[in-house]
Amino acid sequence: MNKYFLSLMSILILFQSFKVSDEIFNGQKDQKKGYIVLENDDDEVTVAENKSDIKEEKIDYQSLFSQASLEGGEKIAKQCVACHSFDNSLKVKVGPPLWGVVNRSAASISDFKYSEALVNFKKAWSREELFYFLEKPKDYIKGTKMIYKGLKKPSDRADLISYLESLK
Ligand code: HEC
Repeated sequence: MNKYFLSLMSILILFQSFKVSDEIFNGQKDQKKGYIVLENDDDEVTVAENKSDIKEEKIDYQSLFSQASLEGGEKIAKQCVACHSFDNSLKVKVGPPLWGVVNRSAASISDFKYSEALVNFKKAWSREELFYFLEKPKDYIKGTKMIYKGLKKPSDRADLISYLESLK
């Protein structure tokens, strides 16, 4: 260790202890970032980094969907074709066919063997349900056999759901 390194280290330690570094390096950017603790139906506590992470805070679907792109959605749908058919043949692949899926009851394709989790879901695939499911399928319906990591970006999901809506 040379003395430059040592003095650098002590400056860093000083910065840390006074939490000066935060202000200097992150400045205003961090001021908006609040940690908000939420409780959901299962009494689980979730910590959201941003207000925008809070579902109850409500996403402005109207504007999200009014700006959605069908072509964008069609591209994203390529991530699903290995497992889902999209045309009116209603062909069952690894997953159930997605033709007309928007507003269809979940687990309603009779020749597909759904997981128990999806059978028990008992909801219709509204825009909103699809929006949450496709963000992280395994988190939204625990026990689903759909192995797909999810789509993080709300606008990607709106594009994809708009594309799904066009399939009827
Ligand atoms: C690796 C295969 C795989 C991929 C990739 C995949 N899925 Fe699925 N999907 C499945 C399976 C399997 C099921 C049935 C899940 C169950 O029974 O739990 C399913 C179920 C669904 C359902 C419920 C349908 C119903 O009839 O209730 C929707 C909606 C859906 N997937 C949409 C998508 C979309 C949109 C994509 C692409 C972004 C996608 N999936 C990607 C395998 C996949």
